[in-house]
Amino acid sequence: MAENPPQSQLSTDETQLRTAQLNITKLKTTENETFQPEANSTQANGSKTSGLLTPNAIACRPTAGPAPSSADGTGQDDDDPEIARMLAALKSTVIPDGWLPLPVDPNTTNPLTRAYRYRGMVLLRVHMLCGLQHWAQFRGRPSDVIVASFPKSGTTWLQEIVWRVVHRETGAQSGGGRTLEYRFPLLDLPATARIAMTPLHEMESPRLIKTHLMYHLLPESVHTSGAKVLYVSRDPRDVCVSYYHFQRMVDYERYRGTFAEFRDKFVRGEVMNGPYREHVRGYREQADHVLCLTYEELHEDRVTAVRRVAEFLDKPLTQEEAEAIARHTDFENMKKNPGCNFKHWEQTRMVKTTDEGTFMRKGQVGDWRNYFTEEESDAFMKWVNELI
Ligand code: PPS
Repeated sequence: MAENPPQSQLSTDETQLRTAQLNITKLKTTENETFQPEANSTQANGSKTSGLLTPNAIACRPTAGPAPSSADGTGQDDDDPEIARMLAALKSTVIPDGWLPLPVDPNTTNPLTRAYRYRGMVLLRVHMLCGLQHWAQFRGRPSDVIVASFPKSGTTWLQEIVWRVVHRETGAQSGGGRTLEYRFPLLDLPATARIAMTPLHEMESPRLIKTHLMYHLLPESVHTSGAKVLYVSRDPRDVCVSYYHFQRMVDYERYRGTFAEFRDKFVRGEVMNGPYREHVRGYREQADHVLCLTYEELHEDRVTAVRRVAEFLDKPLTQEEAEAIARHTDFENMKKNPGCNFKHWEQTRMVKTTDEGTFMRKGQVGDWRNYFTEEESDAFMKWVNELI
């Protein structure tokens, strides 16, 4: 794997350089503004950016319309240059064909995270402006390993297992303390100052990549390259509970609604990366070549799960190695491991509050019982089972 500096050593410039480029010449906005993006990749000093993207690249210049405001109208983000810059670009909402705006959720008024339905999936403005191009530029390699999931289904858990299996890492720490964002970056969005990931094209093989994209939205080269895809799913009631706390915890979302409101939104298929049922079904339909695991089986018998992963990836392990990996990926050990516990988000302003718990919140099967009545659970599962 390419050597990368720890996040704390990465300069803001470097992380900003990895921000995506808007490649749109002239577009209509929802507010009937017409705007031009800043000149293609030429910087203020006249130098070209050779395809790497500058902050200017997303600093679209509205030709009409109000000045950009803070994410929630309180002005609290004005001191964050990255947010201010993205807002300046995103304020002029560019809606290409095929992006259908979902109703505005009064509980999440952050304009960065306005939701749209794009080819059957719920994506945000930030995906529209940065993500699409990021995954369009993706070139799969035969040795790529992709861990896919609906959010809060055990992605991090499976990523850490996969990383250890591929690197035969059986010690307590993983990846020399480098965070999963470096070791296992996201396909869906490029790096930002808050989430500093290794750029995919700079990674040495085998690349380990995370995605929440639905199966049908995976770049074509994932399929043609022969990359290996693993999918993890979880009891949707626990997913919903975990997602609710996560959305309240993270700064970009700042969800302010009740659990019942969030659950209704989940069922309406309006939460980011939804709709849940279609997401799970899309991957399970590919179970002949996608390794489909569940959060619950990772709980029940992790050694067997580790062995299944190793077999699927053609990375044979001894029984001792499988047991060590299973032990180091239990909840308490991962919670202690700075390489995968996402504690660093508390410094990078990704986390708004820890009142909702931390990223490694409870790690339980069945926490939903504290949130659903029996009738609510029955109705919810009836809805899930209609499709899955
Ligand atoms: S994300 O943001 O979509 O990548 O989140 P994801 O990693 O899919 O899900 C986070 C939930 O998984 C729990 N988790 C674990 N549970 C048990 N054991 C281990 N090792 C483990 N690692 C992560 C994490 O605590 C979140 O679930 P909740 O229910 O909120 O605790």
